[in-house]
Amino acid sequence: PEDVGILSMEMYFPNLYVDQVELEEYDKVSKGKYTIGLGQTRMGFAEDCEDIQSVCLTVTKRLLEKTRIPVSKIGLDTTNACYGGTAALFHALNWIESSSWDGRLAIVVCGDLAVYASGPARPTGGAGACAMLIGPNAPLVITRGVRSTYMDNVYDFYKPNMSSEYPIVEGKLSISCYLKALDKCYTLFKERLKKVTLEDDLDLDYFDGLIFHSPFCKLVQKSVARLLFNEFLMENKEETNEKYLDCEKFKSLKLEDTYFDKDIETKFLELSKELYEEKTKPSLLLATEVGNMYTASLYSCLVSYLVSKPIDEIAGQNLLMFSYGSGMAASMYAISISSNDRKGSPLHRLISSVQHVPTTLSKRIKIDPEEFTKIMEHKEKTNFSAPFKPEGKIERLLNGTYYLDKIDDGYKRTYKRK
Ligand code: ACO
Repeated sequence: PEDVGILSMEMYFPNLYVDQVELEEYDKVSKGKYTIGLGQTRMGFAEDCEDIQSVCLTVTKRLLEKTRIPVSKIGLDTTNACYGGTAALFHALNWIESSSWDGRLAIVVCGDLAVYASGPARPTGGAGACAMLIGPNAPLVITRGVRSTYMDNVYDFYKPNMSSEYPIVEGKLSISCYLKALDKCYTLFKERLKKVTLEDDLDLDYFDGLIFHSPFCKLVQKSVARLLFNEFLMENKEETNEKYLDCEKFKSLKLEDTYFDKDIETKFLELSKELYEEKTKPSLLLATEVGNMYTASLYSCLVSYLVSKPIDEIAGQNLLMFSYGSGMAASMYAISISSNDRKGSPLHRLISSVQHVPTTLSKRIKIDPEEFTKIMEHKEKTNFSAPFKPEGKIERLLNGTYYLDKIDDGYKRTYKRK
């Protein structure tokens, strides 16, 4: 099959959020720490009547309803954590491109209700899910032959306590792991891209959009700077490229010694400002407004990017995608967007189905940090208990949302749809 990729997308996030300015006041941290320092505006979260199954049911049902694809036409079932959105996408692509493909389509569902214990990591939580229909003749084609992957064994973020929803996170280590994975993936990716395109002089200009897994938006802005720093170190020319003025002193440095080098960070943030504004910032609507969706984060950034510009601008573009999962597993790949932007075309249909996102975001219900904290505490106490009847307010859910009705004394969960 030709042009295997994303045929359709659907995005869901809970209808509740907490404001990061109010959370700064409530947590008694300095004003601006979460909003400027981390680059977050609002954080989405769910009450106990929504769990990861209900959230994934909601987004999948909507995708099936909108595309009118019967379940019998779907033929792949694999489950993953963390890096799972991308792992599932790759499984689906591999299956469809392989000799064992039987003509059916695949659905990739990724989502998380990501909560941290109170403390410095709490403002980097988030909640949401994305469902994608995968098949041939897609408007978002995953470029063949240029995928790069980097994996390592690290305890940057892990969940050893099965009776808690909260992970253990080594914040600074997780940031250096993310940046290391970005460096490694980009170096390999670029080599592969040069081979596939037969162009030797490729740089970030090749891409119209640079899209990243977003733990918090400031890290993404630093990642754009980091890619430019990679480009600068890769440059092998005798004369200094005028775009890297005053950077000579950094030329002898090694990538692995510079994850927290403030001079490099400041210089390359400045040099990459336009690149970030034009190619990455449009992808951060959901990441700023909802927060880190983990497996769905990169795909929420893709959706945000697709609804950020008129369709005739989006059509024909090339996107660079960077996926990261703690533990760690990371991949870089490319998407080429169909140039057919006519009304009713596959690209037009795909974008139309996520066009609701900015409006749905703006209509959410704001919860103050006191109530948010109480909801978190209630979930801490009742988590994984059985029998259980959720207290969450069903009237706050949007129509069509699945919710957890009860857990019986055998731990079986029953869901209903509003
Ligand atoms: N105004 C403006 N900026 C401020 C203010 C203020 N009042 N106060 C602090 N800042 C800045 C800091 O300078 C820092 O920015 P910099 O790194 O550019 O210098 C930023 O805000 C954060 O402040 P820190 O003191 O570094 O924050 P802290 O260490 O308390 O927590 C962290 C940040 C580590 C990211 C934490 O939220 C965390 O552990 N999050 C979860 C882990 C995570 O998301 N890791 C990323 C990859 S792994 C993954 O996807 C899970």
